[in-house]
Amino acid sequence: MNRNARWLDTWQKMANMDDAFCTMGRSAYTITDYFKYLSNIATGLGQINQSDRLLDMAGGAGYIAMYFSPLVAAVDSFDYASDMIKKSKSICSGFNNITPYVDNLLTLDETKAKGHLYNKAVLGGALQLFEDYAEVKLILQHLFDVMTLGGQAIVTHNTDITLKQAHIESYDLLDWSKEKINEALKAEQDRLWMDFQQVKEIALTVGFKECYKQDIHPELFQSSHMFDFVLVK
Ligand SMILES: C[S@@+](CC[C@H](N)C(=O)[O-])C[C@H]1O[C@@H](n2cnc3c(N)ncnc32)[C@H](O)[C@@H]1O
Repeated sequence: MNRNARWLDTWQKMANMDDAFCTMGRSAYTITDYFKYLSNIATGLGQINQSDRLLDMAGGAGYIAMYFSPLVAAVDSFDYASDMIKKSKSICSGFNNITPYVDNLLTLDETKAKGHLYNKAVLGGALQLFEDYAEVKLILQHLFDVMTLGGQAIVTHNTDITLKQAHIESYDLLDWSKEKINEALKAEQDRLWMDFQQVKEIALTVGFKECYKQDIHPELFQSSHMFDFVLVK
């Protein structure tokens, strides 16, 4: 089973947890952290208009979709974990312009079948769950296919290969049991650690006009070992 298929079980379980931040994969997340994260996303999307159509990719339980709902015309929010979508359908039910549905980043079949083009897109925290750069390329190609010319996307929380070693070593400083540290380190190894320059090369090859890094809020845990990037078609 490849990495992304292995992660599915985790997300199905997370969806059924009684935790407002079940999609962040971190028990220590706070509402303040989440607003810092949302402000990073809003910055990455640039000027937002009421006529925009937003694609929330790997959107989990739909929090990002709810935040942007009043600011845009429509939000299509998908995830491959059916229980995340069940949760999203329930908690987003009061937001008439959000459509949660099951789809997979590796195919985008359902999204393409809708026949819409999006001028804004968010791909939050999911690229690190794939196998290799070939899968990254496939995902960016699908994203390119469904965006308008001039459309802008932000791809958040990508594990940075240049910061991996220091991040792994930082576990030594934690006051955790050996078992807990070993479990966390196992999960760290089961991520795709990426080089931004290689990702940028892929994005430009796929046809994006621009691909640049955007700073993660320095107080967010992710800023120590991940990068966000913006794509413009
Ligand atoms: C870290 S969570 C992020 C959720 C949300 N995007 C955010 O940024 O808060 C990663 C999400 O990616 C979803 N995911 C992982 N692989 C996927 C795939 N192949 N297709 C669609 N969704 C996927 C997971 O189910 C999970 O909900």
